[in-house]
Order: sequence, then C-alpha cells, then structure tokens
Amino acid sequence: MKVLLAYSSKTKNTKKVAIAIYEQIKELVEVDFIDIRKTKHKLQNYDLYILGCWVDKATANKNMMKFIETQEIKNKNVALFMTCGVPENHYHATDSINNYIQYMKNLNNNVLSSFICQGKIDPKILIVFKILTWKDPNFIHKIDNTMLEWVESSKSHPNEEDFKNAKNWINNTLQSFNKI
Ligand SMILES: Cc1cc2nc3c(=O)[nH]c(=O)nc-3n(C[C@H](O)[C@H](O)[C@H](O)COP(=O)(O)O)c2cc1C
Repeated sequence: MKVLLAYSSKTKNTKKVAIAIYEQIKELVEVDFIDIRKTKHKLQNYDLYILGCWVDKATANKNMMKFIETQEIKNKNVALFMTCGVPENHYHATDSINNYIQYMKNLNNNVLSSFICQGKIDPKILIVFKILTWKDPNFIHKIDNTMLEWVESSKSHPNEEDFKNAKNWINNTLQSFNKI
C-alpha cells in the first residue's frame, strides 16, 4: 500500500503531530512524507492520503485547500488531521474538523477517519489580532476573555498525550482500512 502523508504548518504544531504519525507508520506502509510548501510538482496517485493542516476560521487553512485542489485529490481514500487553538473537546474544534471533512466529501473523497488536537497559538499572531480587534470589534478572531483562555490552555500543546492519541488514531485507521 502506498501512502501520502502531507501537512501544512505555519508554526510547527501540525508538523510535530505529522512527525509522530510518520514515526508510527513508516515501518508499516510505503509512505511519502511531505511539507506541502516544498512540493510544487504533480504527485503520483496513492492508495491513502493522510492530510494534516491547522485551523483557520473554523476550517482547513487556505494553503492546504489549494494543495488539495492543485493535486486534484478527488475520489480518494483520505484520513484527516488538524491542530487548532481550542481544546479538542470544544465545540469549535468539532465544527472545524467537520468543516474539513465536509470540504473533502464535496470533492467525492472517502473520509476514513479524522483527528484533531490543540496547538499552541503563536504569540506573534495575537499582536496582529489585537490590532485588528481594535480596528473592528466584530473581527472574527477578536481578543476577548474567551480568546485569552484558549491562548493560555493552548500553551502546552501539542504534548506527549496528543502525540500518543495521534499514533493510536492512525494505527486504528490503517487497521480498518486494510480490512476494507
Ligand atoms: C491566522 C490564524 C488564524 C487562526 N484561526 C483559528 C481558528 O479559527 N480556530 C482555532 O481554533 N485556531 C485558530 N488558530 C490557531 C491555530 O490553528 C493553531 O495554533 C494551530 O495549532 C497552528 O498550527 P501550526 O503550528 O501547524 O501552524 C489560528 C492561527 C492563526 C495564525
């Protein structure tokens, strides 16, 4: 079985989860492991696509969507993972992964499974968010007490528990995929 493991990561949270997944599967399947920023050419076809990205505005970040479109990932078997600013059991995390799943289903992909965990919110981006909140109090990422709580709770993620969960997730996904 030939697998593509591809990730999009701005501040390395998703990259770290992708590396944990890679470590788990590299001896089990033939896998190409790529950072989408470094891949400009058209890729071959794979039996399974494991695609990781970060949450922006409650869905997959734009670069990942662009990658999926330019690589024409349609009618494929996919497993999806994300990192986001909120705890994984927060409704916003559920909405975000569901939006990513729906986006992939709209392209006729067969979504086998999904995984999401929290990732540290970059302090630099908070400065930008503060300025934008000052300009527009309805700014989508406005800095309020809720946002500050997310920032605080995100500081230690992704952690060892997140990596363990990601490894278990991909193990279970591969096991059930092999049974199909
Ligand atoms: C511009 C920007 C927008 C973001 N929007 C959201 C969001 O809508 N919801 C959320 O939960 N996290 C949001 N985040 C937080 C990131 O998704 C989170 O920190 C993620 O782990 C970053 O992954 P990376 O380190 O791989 O880039 C945003 C971060 C940035 C920089």
